[in-house]
Amino acid sequence: MKGIVLAGGKGTRLYPLTTVLSKQLLPVFDKPMVYYPLSVLMLAGIKQILVISSTDHLDLYKNQLGDGSAYGVQISYKNQDTPRGLADAFIVGKEFIGEDDVMMILGDNIFYGANFGELVNKTVKDFSTGATIFGYYVKNPKPFGVVEFDKSGKVLSVEEKPANPRSNYIIPGLYIYDNRVSEIAMNVEPSDRGEIEITSVNDQYLKIGELHAIKLGRGIAWFDAGTPTGLLQASNFIEAIQNQQGFYVSAIEEIAFRKGFISKEQYLKLAEGQKNSPYGQYLLDIVDEIEDEKRSQGKF
Ligand code: G1P
Repeated sequence: MKGIVLAGGKGTRLYPLTTVLSKQLLPVFDKPMVYYPLSVLMLAGIKQILVISSTDHLDLYKNQLGDGSAYGVQISYKNQDTPRGLADAFIVGKEFIGEDDVMMILGDNIFYGANFGELVNKTVKDFSTGATIFGYYVKNPKPFGVVEFDKSGKVLSVEEKPANPRSNYIIPGLYIYDNRVSEIAMNVEPSDRGEIEITSVNDQYLKIGELHAIKLGRGIAWFDAGTPTGLLQASNFIEAIQNQQGFYVSAIEEIAFRKGFISKEQYLKLAEGQKNSPYGQYLLDIVDEIEDEKRSQGKF
């Protein structure tokens, strides 16, 4: 399974914050926004990752994340000239996807919660064909993709930003598709807002009876950080969790080390390089703890 982080778009909902800066590099509390979606792919066990961004901003992502080797993954980059819609990622990323299946995460979507890492990891392992999306209960589903379930949990419909939502379950920006997705995306008609919608791709899978959806429980937090309020809420939430519990959310170095993607030496190098910040200090502080944990799990 390969992974795509879609960090494109113009971020117009955040203007003037994003007049010159790339949305997905803005801070969500103490780290760049893109760390959060990237960490989800890493937790899922995905090591081949494509970051898609606009031509103007692509180099910034390269500078921030490099080729991924520091984190034990392979990151490649592809520019998206015009933000044609989320489904365009599968056209831009066709060559990268090759013969594989793909998990895509939106660069402004933030997930956090008990066992979320295990859930995505298991979902990727269990994936065979079709498409898998998630359903997340919210009070106001209107600004999002919405999924309707029958009593047995089967998907009945998917709709993009419906005026009269048929359910309170929105479709967060985390999706898994089999290899047919690029082909399907190429045949999607643009919506009224002129975009090739991911919801149209999901609808195609639904029509052939291959759209699966997993409900995320209420113990999971999800944010779309692409609006001023969403951005602040996400920052406040991450700050509260980190300061209360002392565990950092989406520290990609920690995840890489815990998952055995990098050695202790590689990890320490990354941590040392950031030791003047609380983030770097945290990475240094938890080395022994991670090692003890790995030892008890027989990972040494
Ligand atoms: C996009 C998708 C929508 C999804 C949302 C999640 O919306 O089109 O289906 O629920 O991301 O963040 P957009 O950000 O393009 O309005």
